[in-house]
Amino acid sequence: KRVKHFAEAGEKGGFPHFMLKEIYETPEALNRVLLAVMEKYLRLASMIVYGAKNAFILANGTSLHAGMIGSYYFNDLAGVSVDPVSAAEFPYYALETVETGTVVIAISQSGETSDVISSIKLAKQRGAVVIGITNNVGSRLALESNVYLPIGAGPEIAVPATKSFTATLATLLLFASYTGMFTGKTTRDDYRRIVDEVRNASALLKEKISEFDKSVTSIVQLDYDWKSAYVASSGINYPLALEGALKLKEAAIIHAEGFQLGEMRHGPMVLISNDFPMILIEPAEDQAKPLYVKVLEEARNKGAKPIVIGPGRFGDSVTIQTPSVPRYLSPIISSIPIQLLAYRLGVGFNRPIDTPPGLAKAITT
Ligand code: G6P
Repeated sequence: KRVKHFAEAGEKGGFPHFMLKEIYETPEALNRVLLAVMEKYLRLASMIVYGAKNAFILANGTSLHAGMIGSYYFNDLAGVSVDPVSAAEFPYYALETVETGTVVIAISQSGETSDVISSIKLAKQRGAVVIGITNNVGSRLALESNVYLPIGAGPEIAVPATKSFTATLATLLLFASYTGMFTGKTTRDDYRRIVDEVRNASALLKEKISEFDKSVTSIVQLDYDWKSAYVASSGINYPLALEGALKLKEAAIIHAEGFQLGEMRHGPMVLISNDFPMILIEPAEDQAKPLYVKVLEEARNKGAKPIVIGPGRFGDSVTIQTPSVPRYLSPIISSIPIQLLAYRLGVGFNRPIDTPPGLAKAITT
């Protein structure tokens, strides 16, 4: 038993859990994305998107949230509208529009998620071309795709996905900006700048992770009623609110919901009271800031002490301050504090963080 214990501790590199180790590996994972991406495949995948009649992103769980952020990248950097759909919903969604000329971008960390595999088969039967994005080059997704892009995050063991999420975002960012060179939305210089920005984000995170962890550790000691929590944001960080709520469910095993900031005002606000944990991720877009401040104030008027993640400071709000970064990098940077928060709460509640009961790293049946 002792030998097994030491062996496991060795694999965890001295960290108490794989989840924490993998969060701390994010800077390295981002650098590996830059090494793993092969330009000839990126070019091929980009040409396919450029020539497509219509485009979908299919994925589940964390990969779906990454795909939702990816759809902002494609819209903005390539001027291509890509419809993100749960791979479980795809068989019932807009199938009439899936035909020869459709491109399906399927994302799966494991490459083995059964809904992803069955949905791409369906799409292929209808004539679509499939671009797979996976962290597992020997997976069924890699085999079944017409073209695939490796994520290069390195092995991920903990069920709550962390570094693979940020690495998928970086992969999608490169992919979308490369596609932009075909559509005329970006230039090679823009693409190079984005590569540099990913490299800078990696360096910045390396410097900041422990600082985020310290803020998070002190926040989990404050008086919140953690039975239930909200996470809200707008713009490119909106899907990160969904992802944050998923992390809180998986690692801390509490009820959590993610919202778009405007939607907070259409009902969810009613639950906000004194000790309710209301987590707000600052939007990356200036136009969304007034709504953000309004929701923050409304929550405070109801007695809440919101937890704010972002570069700004809002009075004496409980804040995890992140550095200001270009818009596309914002969800990559802001995901770390929310992952750490879910992790530290899980530790506080003594949860089986790496292996939440009833969940699996990949759902293959
Ligand atoms: C399971 C895991 C999630 C993961 C999802 C999709 O539900 O517990 O963490 O996000 O599958 O996995 P994939 O390997 O397809 O990205």
